Amino acid sequence: MEKKFFAEAAERVLVVEESRFDRFLLVRKLGSWGYRVESAADCEEAFHLFCSCAPRIVITDLILPKKDGFALIKYIRERELNHTYIIVLSGMEDKESVVRALSMGADDYLTKPFHPEELRSRLQSAQRVMTLESQEMLIFALARLAEYRSNETGHHLERVQHFVKILAQDMAQHGFDALTPPIIEMFYSLSPLHDIGKVAIPDHILHKSGKLTDDEFEIVKQHTVIGGNLLYELYRKKQSVRLEVARDIVLYHHERFDGRGYPHGLKGNDIPLCARIVAVADVFDALSSMRCYKPAFSREKCRRVIEEERGKHFDPAVVDAFLRQEDTFWEIRKRFPM
Ligand SMILES: [Fe+2]
Ligand SMILES: [Fe+2]
Repeated sequence: MEKKFFAEAAERVLVVEESRFDRFLLVRKLGSWGYRVESAADCEEAFHLFCSCAPRIVITDLILPKKDGFALIKYIRERELNHTYIIVLSGMEDKESVVRALSMGADDYLTKPFHPEELRSRLQSAQRVMTLESQEMLIFALARLAEYRSNETGHHLERVQHFVKILAQDMAQHGFDALTPPIIEMFYSLSPLHDIGKVAIPDHILHKSGKLTDDEFEIVKQHTVIGGNLLYELYRKKQSVRLEVARDIVLYHHERFDGRGYPHGLKGNDIPLCARIVAVADVFDALSSMRCYKPAFSREKCRRVIEEERGKHFDPAVVDAFLRQEDTFWEIRKRFPM
């Protein structure tokens, strides 16, 4: 039973190679490493197998009869539901084709003739990327769970994620050297967790349509501490930077730059940068969205509110980034409506 489970859990690989001999060698090698392998001799067959078997990894030659490997990359990128890891095979002398394939969305390449161990290590990289991707999906699923219970609607999490990235990228260009691409990517992927603690807030408070009493509001405020504690427990066991950043976002996203926020009343740069960025992204999305207690505010009104809170609720540097990127914010709103 277990054996069957692991056989079915093995990654599915599609090999696309015109040469019968090379195809046979690849299929045999991959099979011996535990992959479930399908193979095709041309693009049409590969299109068909891609749709029927949904492989996670595709290894394709660029030179194929009739349609070439570029057509296959395009086909896959237009139809895939999850990211398919594409490794292209090319001849020694064909660097230009490799560059073109990578720019069209291939993930990696191997020059023929290749050593089996080289292929194996490329597949291990593919596996690592896919594991990370599954982790990202898990993070998002958890965040979505919290979102279902709160009043946020539609694509709030996706929008916040994009707003965070745009703010951080802009700040990186304006002197915030700590915001390197991997850090920005981390803020982006963890920001949907900001309200994870709301899963612990009782329904009658979370879904109350009228104004909250002071006591009820005190309970809602606890979502920061509840979520923060959960992540801190994980951080203590693992000591990973990602968990620390996740904790900072969850615990501090309602702090205010002037020190009048919650839960700890931190001030200025004592509030971690990730939380200062998420604060603007989250509030902008609430302002520009319709809620049961308010209409969606106009562009002018959103800008006015955020500008007025410069140095009060929000870090002035984040507000400045917002003002520079206002057009992009509204483009994202359009891309993820509701
Ligand atoms: Fe929150
Ligand atoms: Fe939110």
